Amino acid sequence: SVEPAAPIGTFTFVVVSNRLPVDFEEAPDGSTIWRTSPGGLVTALEPLMRSSGGAWIGWPGVADCDVEPFENDGISIVPVCLSARELEEYYEGFSNDTLWPLYHDVIASPSFHRETWDAYVTVNRRFAEAAMASAAEGATVWVHDYQLQLVPRMLRDARPDLVIGFFNHIPFPSYGIYAQLPWRKQILHGLLGADVIGFQRLEDAGNFTRAVRRLYGYPTRGVVIDVPTDTRQTRRVVAKHFPISIDAAGYEEMARRPEIQARARQIREDLGNPKTVILGVDRLDYTKGIGHRIKAFGELLADGRLSVEDVTLVQIASPSREQVGSYMALRDDIELAVGRLNGDFSTISHTAISYHHHGYPREEMVAMFLAADVMLVTALRDGMNLVAKEYVAVRFDGDGVLVLSEFAGAADELKQAILINPHDIEGMKDAIVRAVEMPRRDRTRRMRALRRRVFDHDVAAWSASFLSALSGGAAVKAGISDALGA
Ligand code: G6P
Repeated sequence: SVEPAAPIGTFTFVVVSNRLPVDFEEAPDGSTIWRTSPGGLVTALEPLMRSSGGAWIGWPGVADCDVEPFENDGISIVPVCLSARELEEYYEGFSNDTLWPLYHDVIASPSFHRETWDAYVTVNRRFAEAAMASAAEGATVWVHDYQLQLVPRMLRDARPDLVIGFFNHIPFPSYGIYAQLPWRKQILHGLLGADVIGFQRLEDAGNFTRAVRRLYGYPTRGVVIDVPTDTRQTRRVVAKHFPISIDAAGYEEMARRPEIQARARQIREDLGNPKTVILGVDRLDYTKGIGHRIKAFGELLADGRLSVEDVTLVQIASPSREQVGSYMALRDDIELAVGRLNGDFSTISHTAISYHHHGYPREEMVAMFLAADVMLVTALRDGMNLVAKEYVAVRFDGDGVLVLSEFAGAADELKQAILINPHDIEGMKDAIVRAVEMPRRDRTRRMRALRRRVFDHDVAAWSASFLSALSGGAAVKAGISDALGA
């Protein structure tokens, strides 16, 4: 029989993330539309969910939206409702005005407010309860990202039968920055409720382990942390990097469709058939270095090293977190810069920057990647940056040049890109010119190596390696094997 205090569900695999893979939207006639939601997390998890028959717990993207669980495209969706106030305090406040800037090396300054912390605790509890109500006895629950760092501990305390994984999609900062957080110990305690804590880069896992040593003094050996329990024993927690990826074959398949290739040709034609199309695709976020990129491009036009007759920069900036002050300010800055640059350099027939503040369907993005000779990823800090991997996966023709910031997690893997420091404007200008002028042979050689990496390490390999570490953890717990070791 089911205990009323801790209802037990039927799913043996449960994913918990702040955002569901689909956003709720009400059509003008009052009917409901579900739209694919933004960001890398959803892109990465969707294929796994479709094949595993699990439940996905998350927020449907609007306030006060009370929707019953339903099935979407083969995935069981369990919506968690947030009030307008909770959205403001937990999502816009603590998640995106405290944790996001703090974890991205304080590019924008984080706010620290006690009320928003309280909301973060309350909402994390709601997600934990929803997960428990879905998870069968002994189920695996995989919690995602910085919005839900307290959930692993809440699950462990209430449901010690569960196998609990956590994956952090964004960077984990160095101790000097992390230590600013007034709730730094509570967050670590929350995360340490998991059996396996995954990070994007080796460095992120190292930063986390160091923070645990500094703030709790727990012994660590390699990727293993010995966490004391109430019963004076220790639990082994693994903190390790598992760089996330994409469904590379899926992207290539789309890129090979004749209608998408026709669309790519059309895009170039509509741009006036410039010799070179340069592309940037980002959420409109201050971590992405969009302003730095525009500055470099503008100087290249001003110096006469590039000309609008030959080169167009297409910048897709998808709307993001529009109620957060730093994002509003960023939008103003970027749009001012784009407007100025176009005013200075565009001609009647050639636009310097073709700027679009929209999200686009995946097919359209694939066509843009195919149409782009040069892809600019100039993030000042980024957990991974899946756009870089998507561009590579799409270029089955072996052409195209990726310019990639060394501050994106992807730079640890995509070494044959032209790597840049986006703060170094002169260096970025040289890199762009080099990309524009790169001979075909060099482009192909680099792209071939990049593609090998992305196809050998796709999202299926990522989730398989995380989940196998996690089931190793369960085996250790059950005293069956010592598979994980140090
Ligand atoms: C990043 C985060 C995700 C987030 C996405 C979109 O990829 O790691 O957790 O979902 O951005 O941001 P949003 O705030 O719109 O969910």
